[in-house]
Parts: sequence; C-alpha cells; structure tokens
Amino acid sequence: MRRICVATGDAGEHARNILNEPELMAHVFASPYLALQPDLCFVAELAGQPLGYVVAARDSVGFFRDWRRHWSPRFVHSHPAPTRRESLLRAGDADVQLRSLLHRPCSMLLPDTETYPSHLHVNVLAGARGRGVGAALLRVLFQALAEAGSPGVQLGVRATNASAHAFYRAMGMTRLSLDDGPAIRFARPLGR
Ligand SMILES: CC(C)(COP(=O)(O)OP(=O)(O)OC[C@H]1O[C@@H](n2cnc3c(N)ncnc32)[C@H](O)[C@@H]1OP(=O)(O)O)[C@@H](O)C(=O)NCCC(=O)NCCS
Repeated sequence: MRRICVATGDAGEHARNILNEPELMAHVFASPYLALQPDLCFVAELAGQPLGYVVAARDSVGFFRDWRRHWSPRFVHSHPAPTRRESLLRAGDADVQLRSLLHRPCSMLLPDTETYPSHLHVNVLAGARGRGVGAALLRVLFQALAEAGSPGVQLGVRATNASAHAFYRAMGMTRLSLDDGPAIRFARPLGR
C-alpha cells in the first residue's frame, strides 16, 4: 500500500515529482490508516501482485484525534512540525506541507461530518487503471462502511483531477456545492 501510495501520490503520478522525500506521502495518506483503522483498508491484487488500495476512516473526527495522540508523536524527531518561520519561507514546499499535516491532521477534516462522517483515499497503479479495480475497491468499502453504521462518506480531490471526478461520479458520488480552494469534494450517502 505504501509503495502504491508513493507511486501514485501526485494525482496519479509518482510523488517524487513533487516531494524531496516521497515516503512522506505514505506517512500521511496510507500508513496512519493501516495503524489506526485497519478494518477499512482493502488491497486489490492479481496473482499476488497488488494493483490498488482504498483506505478510510469511519469517524473522521475521532480518527484525526487518534492520529494526534498515537501517530503524530512517532514523527516528532524525524519529521518535526514546521516552525512558523519555515512555513512562511517555504509556503509552496510540498514536503513542508505534508510535515504539517502529520502533526495537524485536523486541517484535513472536511465539512458536513454529521451527514458524511467517513472519508476515503483510493489509488490504483497506472498500469491497472480502467479495468474496474477502483470500482471493485469502492464497492467493498461502501459495504463495509454501511455495515459499520456510517450514514455517508466523502473525499477531497484536486479540482484539476478530471479523471478522478468522472470515476467518483460513476461510483454514485455527488460533487458538493460548497467548495472552494484548490480541492473539491465528492460525497455519497450509505446504507440505502
Ligand atoms: C481514480 C482511480 C482510483 C480510478 O480507478 P480505476 O480502477 O482506474 O477505475 P475503474 O476502471 O474501476 O472505473 C470505474 C468507472 O469510473 C469511470 N472512470 C474511471 N476512470 C475514468 C476516466 N479516466 N475517465 C472517465 N471515466 C472514468 C468509468 O465510468 C468507469 O467505468 P467503465 O470503465 O465501466 O466505463 C484511478 O484512476 C487512480 O488511482 N488514479 C490516480 C490516483 C487518483 O487520482 N486517486 C484519486 C485521488 S482523490
């Protein structure tokens, strides 16, 4: 999962395009889910080869609280939170932004958590796309979230990632109207 996360972390391209330390992508978008919510991590594989994965949090508010308590402390020495000065001087630096997310995960919390308390991240390796892998992963996840009692799931995606938007629409998700900034949201009620 970590390898796929790094290989696809720049909107489907390798994270080395945007990060000096590509592993940071997995520290933020894959590993904390494996550590804190392993029951909602699913990998698609063919003949033992992983093709893609989906990770999710059932209760995003509680998940990010647990992250602060149990995940952030692991990085205090290796990847400390950026100082105010560093954040100002290196504002556009993706490594600095991810280090900040490691220690301030609540800044990733999306609105409308009562209606859509769950969130997800899905990534499929480039060579395996367009063959139903992502759809299979989301179907399994939606079922698992519904069984866990979640009323709805949402996610943030770059406004420029048009193929991901088409995918989420095909999966029955709706673009939410109250969007601003460089990311937009897709959401879907569950258990109906
Ligand atoms: C987005 C992503 C997860 C989709 O996974 P996938 O396995 O390629 O998607 P599927 O083959 O299961 O597609 C399911 C449906 O979504 C739609 N779809 C998927 N990719 C599409 C594209 N590029 N353009 C238009 N529609 C698309 C289609 O309707 C498709 O059904 P169909 O093939 O029967 O027409 C995958 O392309 C990916 O990992 N992309 C890079 C990383 C990324 O952007 N992740 C999301 C960040 S929020």
